[in-house]
Amino acid sequence: MQFELNNVDKVYQSSEEIKVYGAKNISLKIPEGEFMALVGPSGSGKTTVLNLIAGLIIPTAGSLKHGDQDITSMSLEERTKHRLDYMGFIFQDYQLLPILKASENIEFPLQLKGLSASEIKDRVEWALKQVGLEKMGHRYPKQLSGGQQQRVSIARAIAGKPQLILADEPTANLDSKTAQEIIELFKKLNQEFKLTFVFSTHDQRLIDQVRTVLYIKDGQITEVKNNA
Ligand SMILES: Nc1ncnc2c1ncn2[C@@H]1O[C@H](COP(=O)(O)OP(=O)(O)O)[C@@H](O)[C@H]1O
Ligand SMILES: [Mg+2]
Repeated sequence: MQFELNNVDKVYQSSEEIKVYGAKNISLKIPEGEFMALVGPSGSGKTTVLNLIAGLIIPTAGSLKHGDQDITSMSLEERTKHRLDYMGFIFQDYQLLPILKASENIEFPLQLKGLSASEIKDRVEWALKQVGLEKMGHRYPKQLSGGQQQRVSIARAIAGKPQLILADEPTANLDSKTAQEIIELFKKLNQEFKLTFVFSTHDQRLIDQVRTVLYIKDGQITEVKNNA
């Protein structure tokens, strides 16, 4: 099922007078298996668009759909369930819980999904293997390098078997070699499992590797490029 935004606006209103367009008239389609990047300077609206796709924020105008499901008409609870069922998230700063081991960080969203203990165990093992950390599950985040922490966060994102991964500047905190390895891992997951990726980035190495580049400025898409 594809995700689809049609003429979406998101206006942030911080006071009576001050309104900021985080997103303006955004239309885009994300077919299954897409490998796409939103590219633009800081403040251009990349995170806003990812949060809209995730249903974490609701458009002030326009429509947001997943297949024939209208995400904007869902209740908060339905949106949360929809997100857990279909999406995984990756962040620039990994966002691992420091008091949990790597394996427990991966388990956490699976428990929210209500999976059985044995299913959770299998999935954690599978996810750690996919990211090349099968022997590291017992470590705490602070005992891992930045690249390894990002791998744990990727394992957490894929363990729920989502359709779509939303990754907000996932290589921004990584050195060049590690960033390249992480990009290769994204490509592998995209090709092997037809897992859909939408990145926000200004990392040229990542921009060069995606299929579709959406340039965004002041909340608006200014150019679409296909790296076929
Ligand atoms: N919660 C918020 N309240 C008010 N303004 C916001 C909020 N989130 C983002 N903005 C504004 O929306 C614009 C886009 O921000 P953002 O989506 O975070 O851009 P990017 O991720 O490209 O840096 C910026 O002008 C930012 O200041
Ligand atoms: Mg951002």
